[in-house]
Amino acid sequence: MIEKFKKTADFILEGLNYKPEIGIVLGSGLGGLGDRIEADKVIRYEDIPDFPVSTVEGHQGKLILGTLGGKKIVAMQGRFHYYEGYSMDMVTFPIRVMKFLGIEYLFVSNAAGGMNPEFNVGDIMLIKDHINHFPINPLIGKNNPELGSRFPDMSKVYNKELITKAKEIAKKHNISLQEGVYIGSTGPTLETPAEYKMFRIWGADATGMSTVPEVIVAHHMGIKCLGMSVITNIDKPAHPDGETTHDEVQNVAGDVEPKMTLLIKELLSSL
Ligand code: HPA
Repeated sequence: MIEKFKKTADFILEGLNYKPEIGIVLGSGLGGLGDRIEADKVIRYEDIPDFPVSTVEGHQGKLILGTLGGKKIVAMQGRFHYYEGYSMDMVTFPIRVMKFLGIEYLFVSNAAGGMNPEFNVGDIMLIKDHINHFPINPLIGKNNPELGSRFPDMSKVYNKELITKAKEIAKKHNISLQEGVYIGSTGPTLETPAEYKMFRIWGADATGMSTVPEVIVAHHMGIKCLGMSVITNIDKPAHPDGETTHDEVQNVAGDVEPKMTLLIKELLSSL
């Protein structure tokens, strides 16, 4: 596998005279942030050897290498979800490749449903911890010690320094930030009222269909992670008359995108 990661990374770096320091995964409705990057190279996923191809509406499927906030970055405009039918190896393949591109930090964003009664639609939540509710862990299988340890400690997955910096930046710009636990499930169904309630009892504040596998794999390789959720809908028990559509998720995330962009840009500058 390592040879495959290196081969894909070499392909991506071809013609560039630098290596990106930071990886960014742009979630549902947040792809617009990709357009603010001063791009040096944009590669469609289908043109990258061994890359999966995204099938979800609103996920654009491009890898962008360039500058944002004065830093050299690589951004995924569109990600791969387990519910699309990919194996966990495929879902996390781009993150493995990013390590071989040279990244030290990974910023992951997503759209999520909120269960915390304090949350409102349009809030940004910093992920302070997660619950892996996928039926499989992406590290199952033979471990390669060149990538990371067999039994990674998970007590400090979301980097405290990055969280502190994000809070300071948000305060400076009057952006209100929530902080909480993200629970990742397969989807593609959204949760039933009973499931939202169960997740809340388990200690989660927001729920989504991504991020957890990517962050597990990044953490396995020693990458410092920051996770951010846009709360695009809140749970049914609190809002019994509401239904959630994919369009709504995209629209809310799109509205929040300028705030998310500012936050990410300034965070990058501060590193
Ligand atoms: N559940 C799961 N994934 C989601 C949700 C949700 O309520 N909202 C946006 N992505």
